[in-house]
Amino acid sequence: MAGIPRIKVNHYSTFYYQYEFSLLDALEAQEIPAPYNCRGGYCGCCRVRLIDGEVEEVQDALYDTVGDEILTCCTKPVTHVEIEIPED
Ligand code: FES
Repeated sequence: MAGIPRIKVNHYSTFYYQYEFSLLDALEAQEIPAPYNCRGGYCGCCRVRLIDGEVEEVQDALYDTVGDEILTCCTKPVTHVEIEIPED
């Protein structure tokens, strides 16, 4: 995909990826209250639903995601993406 990936976060905002290390870092740069704990792919706290688009891994994840979940600390967007942060 040409151009800068756009990140849409349901119930929050839409912004352009600034090439932070991970999606988690990008969310934090926008002051979006994204959950996290280990930042290393172990705990699963940072998982969100990937509704649209594609991400790639920036570090190995040891936590097994299910379905459309991704770990924001372990991925970065490679296309425009739409994600949803779980409410709990
Ligand atoms: S913050 Fe622990 S897996 Fe991402």
